[in-house]
Amino acid sequence: MPFDDRIETAISRAIRNGQAAPSPGKLASALQYTVTPGGARIRPKILLSVSAACGDDNPELANAAAAALELIHCASLVHDDLPCFDDADTRRGKPAVHRAFGEPLAVLTGDSLIIMAFSVLTHAAALDSARAIELLKVLAERTGMPNGICAGQGWESEEVIDLSAYHRAKTGALFIAATQMGAIAAGQDGEQWEDLGARIGEAFQVADDLRDALYDEETLGKPAGQDDLHGRPNAVAELGVAGAIRRMKDILSGAISSIPKCPGEAMLAKMVNAQAEMLTPIKWRAGQASHIPGE
Ligand code: IPE
Ligand code: IPE
Ligand code: MG
Ligand code: MG
Repeated sequence: MPFDDRIETAISRAIRNGQAAPSPGKLASALQYTVTPGGARIRPKILLSVSAACGDDNPELANAAAAALELIHCASLVHDDLPCFDDADTRRGKPAVHRAFGEPLAVLTGDSLIIMAFSVLTHAAALDSARAIELLKVLAERTGMPNGICAGQGWESEEVIDLSAYHRAKTGALFIAATQMGAIAAGQDGEQWEDLGARIGEAFQVADDLRDALYDEETLGKPAGQDDLHGRPNAVAELGVAGAIRRMKDILSGAISSIPKCPGEAMLAKMVNAQAEMLTPIKWRAGQASHIPGE
Protein backbone atom coordinates (compact mmCIF):
# COMPACT_ATOMS: atom_id res chain seq x y z
CA MET A 1 0.00 0.00 0.00
CA PRO A 2 1.36 3.51 -0.79
CA PHE A 3 2.63 5.53 2.20
CA ASP A 4 -0.23 8.05 1.91
CA ASP A 5 -2.88 5.33 2.22
CA ARG A 6 -1.10 3.65 5.13
CA ILE A 7 -0.91 6.97 7.00
CA GLU A 8 -4.50 8.06 6.35
CA THR A 9 -5.94 4.63 7.20
CA ALA A 10 -4.07 4.46 10.51
CA ILE A 11 -5.02 8.03 11.48
CA SER A 12 -8.70 7.49 10.59
CA ARG A 13 -8.82 4.31 12.65
CA ALA A 14 -7.42 6.12 15.69
CA ILE A 15 -9.86 9.01 15.32
CA ARG A 16 -12.82 6.65 14.88
CA ASN A 17 -11.90 4.88 18.13
CA GLY A 18 -11.73 8.25 19.86
CA GLN A 19 -15.19 9.17 18.63
CA ALA A 20 -16.95 6.02 19.83
CA ALA A 21 -20.26 6.49 21.67
CA PRO A 22 -21.00 7.93 24.13
CA SER A 23 -18.49 10.67 23.27
CA PRO A 24 -19.35 14.40 23.35
CA GLY A 25 -20.28 15.34 19.77
CA LYS A 26 -18.48 18.66 19.38
CA LEU A 27 -15.18 17.36 20.69
CA ALA A 28 -15.56 14.27 18.49
CA SER A 29 -16.06 16.55 15.44
CA ALA A 30 -13.12 18.74 16.43
CA LEU A 31 -10.81 15.70 16.40
CA GLN A 32 -11.78 14.92 12.81
CA TYR A 33 -11.63 18.60 11.81
CA THR A 34 -8.06 18.83 13.14
CA VAL A 35 -6.55 15.88 11.36
CA THR A 36 -8.33 16.14 7.97
CA PRO A 37 -7.54 17.31 5.46
CA GLY A 38 -3.95 16.85 6.55
CA GLY A 39 -0.96 19.01 5.77
CA ALA A 40 2.13 17.61 4.09
CA ARG A 41 2.29 14.60 6.48
CA ILE A 42 6.05 14.94 6.14
CA ARG A 43 6.91 13.36 9.52
CA PRO A 44 4.97 10.09 9.04
CA LYS A 45 6.25 9.87 5.45
CA ILE A 46 9.84 10.10 6.70
CA LEU A 47 9.03 7.50 9.37
CA LEU A 48 7.67 5.04 6.79
CA SER A 49 10.61 5.74 4.44
CA VAL A 50 13.09 4.85 7.18
CA SER A 51 11.08 1.77 8.12
CA ALA A 52 11.06 0.72 4.45
CA ALA A 53 14.81 1.31 4.21
CA CYS A 54 15.29 -0.97 7.23
CA GLY A 55 13.16 -3.80 5.79
CA ASP A 56 9.68 -2.88 7.12
CA ASP A 57 9.16 -6.36 8.60
CA ASN A 58 6.20 -5.24 10.76
CA PRO A 59 4.25 -2.79 8.59
CA GLU A 60 1.25 -2.56 10.95
CA LEU A 61 3.56 -1.44 13.75
CA ALA A 62 5.15 1.16 11.44
CA ASN A 63 1.67 2.39 10.49
CA ALA A 64 0.73 2.79 14.16
CA ALA A 65 3.98 4.68 14.80
CA ALA A 66 3.34 6.96 11.81
CA ALA A 67 -0.20 7.74 13.00
CA ALA A 68 0.96 8.38 16.58
CA LEU A 69 3.64 10.80 15.41
CA GLU A 70 1.27 12.75 13.15
CA LEU A 71 -1.35 12.94 15.93
CA ILE A 72 1.22 14.59 18.21
CA HIS A 73 2.13 17.01 15.44
CA CYS A 74 -1.54 17.91 14.82
CA ALA A 75 -2.08 18.42 18.56
CA SER A 76 0.92 20.73 18.74
CA LEU A 77 -0.53 22.88 15.94
CA VAL A 78 -3.92 23.21 17.68
CA HIS A 79 -2.25 24.40 20.88
CA ASP A 80 0.25 26.57 18.99
CA ASP A 81 -2.57 28.51 17.29
CA LEU A 82 -4.37 29.35 20.56
CA PRO A 83 -4.53 33.01 21.60
CA CYS A 84 -2.13 32.32 24.51
CA PHE A 85 0.53 31.14 22.01
CA ASP A 86 0.55 32.51 18.44
CA ASP A 87 -3.08 33.63 18.26
CA ALA A 88 -3.39 32.40 14.67
CA ASP A 89 -6.81 32.44 13.01
CA THR A 90 -6.09 30.01 10.19
CA ARG A 91 -4.40 26.66 9.80
CA ARG A 92 -4.19 24.45 6.71
CA GLY A 93 -6.39 26.89 4.80
CA LYS A 94 -9.34 26.92 7.20
CA PRO A 95 -10.21 28.47 10.56
CA ALA A 96 -7.93 27.32 13.39
CA VAL A 97 -9.61 24.85 15.76
CA HIS A 98 -10.26 27.47 18.47
CA ARG A 99 -11.87 29.74 15.84
CA ALA A 100 -14.12 26.92 14.63
CA PHE A 101 -14.96 25.29 17.99
CA GLY A 102 -13.94 27.77 20.71
CA GLU A 103 -10.94 27.73 23.07
CA PRO A 104 -12.08 25.12 25.61
CA LEU A 105 -12.65 22.53 22.88
CA ALA A 106 -9.36 23.44 21.18
CA VAL A 107 -7.45 22.81 24.42
CA LEU A 108 -9.29 19.50 24.84
CA THR A 109 -8.71 18.55 21.18
CA GLY A 110 -4.96 18.98 21.58
CA ASP A 111 -5.00 17.06 24.87
CA SER A 112 -7.12 14.25 23.40
CA LEU A 113 -4.86 13.85 20.36
CA ILE A 114 -1.75 13.65 22.54
CA ILE A 115 -3.31 10.91 24.68
CA MET A 116 -4.60 9.19 21.53
CA ALA A 117 -1.08 9.04 20.09
CA PHE A 118 0.20 7.17 23.14
CA SER A 119 -2.90 4.98 23.19
CA VAL A 120 -2.27 3.93 19.56
CA LEU A 121 1.21 2.77 20.54
CA THR A 122 0.05 0.91 23.65
CA HIS A 123 -2.44 -1.01 21.49
CA ALA A 124 0.33 -1.70 18.98
CA ALA A 125 2.19 -3.54 21.74
CA ALA A 126 0.17 -6.59 20.70
CA LEU A 127 2.21 -6.58 17.45
CA ASP A 128 5.61 -6.47 19.18
CA SER A 129 5.77 -5.37 22.80
CA ALA A 130 9.54 -4.72 22.98
CA ARG A 131 9.49 -2.47 19.92
CA ALA A 132 6.31 -0.72 21.11
CA ILE A 133 7.97 0.21 24.42
CA GLU A 134 10.92 1.70 22.52
CA LEU A 135 8.51 3.64 20.29
CA LEU A 136 6.68 4.99 23.36
CA LYS A 137 9.98 6.09 24.92
CA VAL A 138 11.08 7.99 21.81
CA LEU A 139 7.70 9.64 21.28
CA ALA A 140 7.53 10.71 24.95
CA GLU A 141 11.06 12.11 24.87
CA ARG A 142 10.39 14.12 21.72
CA THR A 143 7.02 15.43 22.90
CA GLY A 144 7.68 16.62 26.46
CA MET A 145 10.45 18.14 28.56
CA PRO A 146 13.40 18.57 28.31
CA ASN A 147 13.93 17.51 24.68
CA GLY A 148 10.51 17.64 23.06
CA ILE A 149 8.16 20.15 21.48
CA CYS A 150 6.91 21.27 24.93
CA ALA A 151 10.47 22.40 25.63
CA GLY A 152 10.58 24.08 22.23
CA GLN A 153 7.43 26.06 22.92
CA GLY A 154 8.71 26.76 26.44
CA TRP A 155 11.76 28.56 25.08
CA GLU A 156 9.44 31.25 23.72
CA SER A 157 8.69 32.32 27.32
CA GLU A 158 12.38 32.85 28.15
CA GLU A 159 14.03 36.26 28.05
CA VAL A 160 17.18 34.86 26.51
CA ILE A 161 16.66 32.14 23.91
CA ASP A 162 19.22 29.45 23.16
CA LEU A 163 18.44 29.42 19.44
CA SER A 164 19.83 26.02 18.62
CA ALA A 165 18.16 24.33 21.63
CA TYR A 166 14.92 26.14 20.73
CA HIS A 167 14.88 24.97 17.11
CA ARG A 168 16.07 21.48 17.92
CA ALA A 169 13.23 21.03 20.43
CA LYS A 170 10.47 22.92 18.64
CA THR A 171 10.97 21.53 15.14
CA GLY A 172 13.83 19.01 15.23
CA ALA A 173 12.29 16.83 17.93
CA LEU A 174 9.52 15.33 15.79
CA PHE A 175 11.90 14.77 12.86
CA ILE A 176 14.26 12.90 15.19
CA ALA A 177 11.24 10.92 16.39
CA ALA A 178 10.36 10.22 12.73
CA THR A 179 13.71 8.66 11.80
CA GLN A 180 14.19 6.84 15.12
CA MET A 181 10.64 5.45 15.23
CA GLY A 182 10.89 4.28 11.61
CA ALA A 183 14.03 2.32 12.47
CA ILE A 184 12.59 0.94 15.72
CA ALA A 185 9.35 -0.18 14.04
CA ALA A 186 11.49 -2.25 11.69
CA GLY A 187 13.49 -3.78 14.54
CA GLN A 188 16.61 -1.58 14.28
CA ASP A 189 18.42 0.42 16.95
CA GLY A 190 16.97 3.97 16.95
CA GLU A 191 20.10 5.67 18.37
CA GLN A 192 22.07 5.79 15.14
CA TRP A 193 19.14 7.48 13.35
CA GLU A 194 19.09 10.60 15.56
CA ASP A 195 21.56 12.57 13.49
CA LEU A 196 19.62 12.17 10.22
CA GLY A 197 16.37 13.31 11.89
CA ALA A 198 18.08 16.29 13.51
CA ARG A 199 19.55 17.40 10.18
CA ILE A 200 16.28 17.05 8.29
CA GLY A 201 14.56 18.98 11.10
CA GLU A 202 17.13 21.78 10.91
CA ALA A 203 16.66 22.07 7.14
CA PHE A 204 12.88 22.04 7.59
CA GLN A 205 13.12 24.93 10.06
CA VAL A 206 15.09 27.01 7.52
CA ALA A 207 12.54 26.13 4.82
CA ASP A 208 9.71 27.14 7.16
CA ASP A 209 11.44 30.48 7.82
CA LEU A 210 11.70 31.01 4.05
CA ARG A 211 8.04 30.21 3.49
CA ASP A 212 7.04 32.50 6.36
CA ALA A 213 8.99 35.37 4.82
CA LEU A 214 8.17 34.81 1.14
CA TYR A 215 4.61 33.53 0.92
CA ASP A 216 1.23 35.07 1.74
CA GLU A 217 -1.49 33.67 3.98
CA GLU A 218 -3.48 32.24 1.07
CA THR A 219 -0.53 30.23 -0.23
CA LEU A 220 0.54 29.08 3.23
CA GLY A 221 -2.93 28.32 4.56
CA LYS A 222 -1.85 29.96 7.84
CA PRO A 223 -0.76 33.50 8.81
CA ALA A 224 2.45 34.67 7.08
CA GLY A 225 5.18 37.00 8.36
CA GLN A 226 4.92 35.57 11.87
CA ASP A 227 8.65 35.53 12.62
CA ASP A 228 8.93 39.28 12.05
CA LEU A 229 5.64 39.95 13.84
CA HIS A 230 6.71 38.07 16.97
CA GLY A 231 10.34 39.29 16.69
CA ARG A 232 11.60 35.68 16.48
CA PRO A 233 15.13 34.95 15.34
CA ASN A 234 14.97 33.29 11.90
CA ALA A 235 17.18 32.15 9.03
CA VAL A 236 15.98 34.78 6.52
CA ALA A 237 16.68 37.68 8.89
CA GLU A 238 20.09 36.18 9.65
CA LEU A 239 21.21 35.09 6.16
CA GLY A 240 18.88 36.70 3.60
CA VAL A 241 16.82 34.62 1.13
CA ALA A 242 19.77 33.39 -0.96
CA GLY A 243 21.81 32.56 2.13
CA ALA A 244 18.90 30.69 3.71
CA ILE A 245 18.31 28.60 0.56
CA ARG A 246 22.02 27.74 0.41
CA ARG A 247 22.03 26.87 4.11
CA MET A 248 19.03 24.56 3.68
CA LYS A 249 20.69 22.74 0.78
CA ASP A 250 23.98 22.40 2.71
CA ILE A 251 22.18 20.90 5.69
CA LEU A 252 20.37 18.42 3.45
CA SER A 253 23.56 17.25 1.74
CA GLY A 254 24.98 16.70 5.24
CA ALA A 255 21.81 14.74 6.00
CA ILE A 256 22.40 12.45 3.02
CA SER A 257 25.95 11.69 4.18
CA SER A 258 24.62 10.88 7.65
CA ILE A 259 22.23 8.11 6.51
CA PRO A 260 23.21 4.97 8.46
CA LYS A 261 24.16 1.83 6.53
CA CYS A 262 20.96 -0.05 5.68
CA PRO A 263 19.50 -1.98 2.74
CA GLY A 264 17.51 1.05 1.53
CA GLU A 265 20.28 3.66 1.84
CA ALA A 266 20.04 4.78 -1.80
CA MET A 267 16.24 5.01 -1.65
CA LEU A 268 16.48 7.18 1.47
CA ALA A 269 18.98 9.51 -0.19
CA LYS A 270 16.44 9.92 -3.02
CA MET A 271 13.73 10.69 -0.46
CA VAL A 272 15.86 13.40 1.19
CA ASN A 273 16.57 14.93 -2.23
CA ALA A 274 12.87 14.91 -3.07
CA GLN A 275 12.12 16.61 0.25
CA ALA A 276 14.79 19.23 -0.51
CA GLU A 277 13.01 20.02 -3.76
CA MET A 278 9.64 20.27 -2.04
CA LEU A 279 11.02 22.47 0.74
CA THR A 280 12.63 24.91 -1.70
CA PRO A 281 10.32 27.86 -2.39
CA ILE A 282 8.61 27.25 -5.77
CA LYS A 283 10.37 30.06 -7.62
CA TRP A 284 13.80 28.61 -6.91
CA ARG A 285 13.15 24.94 -7.61
CA ALA A 286 15.20 23.15 -10.26
CA GLY A 287 13.66 23.62 -13.72
CA GLN A 288 12.08 26.96 -12.81
CA ALA A 289 13.12 30.12 -14.65
CA SER A 290 14.50 31.91 -11.60
CA HIS A 291 17.77 30.96 -10.00
CA ILE A 292 18.77 31.54 -6.41
CA PRO A 293 18.96 35.33 -5.97
CA GLY A 294 22.50 36.63 -5.76
CA GLU A 295 24.07 33.66 -7.61
C1 IPE B 1 4.35 23.35 10.70
O1 IPE B 1 4.63 22.05 10.27
C2 IPE B 1 4.95 23.58 12.05
C3 IPE B 1 6.40 23.64 12.13
C4 IPE B 1 7.08 22.88 12.89
C5 IPE B 1 7.14 24.67 11.41
P1 IPE B 1 4.22 21.53 8.82
O2 IPE B 1 4.67 22.53 7.79
O3 IPE B 1 4.73 20.15 8.66
O4 IPE B 1 2.64 21.55 8.89
P2 IPE B 1 1.58 20.68 8.09
O5 IPE B 1 1.39 19.42 8.87
O6 IPE B 1 2.11 20.42 6.70
O7 IPE B 1 0.34 21.53 8.11
C1 IPE C 1 4.57 25.45 15.53
O1 IPE C 1 5.63 26.28 15.36
C2 IPE C 1 5.06 24.07 15.68
C3 IPE C 1 5.15 23.55 17.03
C4 IPE C 1 6.21 22.94 17.44
C5 IPE C 1 4.04 23.60 17.93
P1 IPE C 1 5.41 27.69 14.65
O2 IPE C 1 4.48 28.53 15.44
O3 IPE C 1 6.76 28.24 14.38
O4 IPE C 1 4.81 27.23 13.27
P2 IPE C 1 3.55 27.73 12.45
O5 IPE C 1 4.03 28.83 11.58
O6 IPE C 1 2.49 28.17 13.40
O7 IPE C 1 3.13 26.52 11.63
MG1 MG D 1 4.49 28.98 17.49
MG1 MG E 1 2.53 29.23 15.06
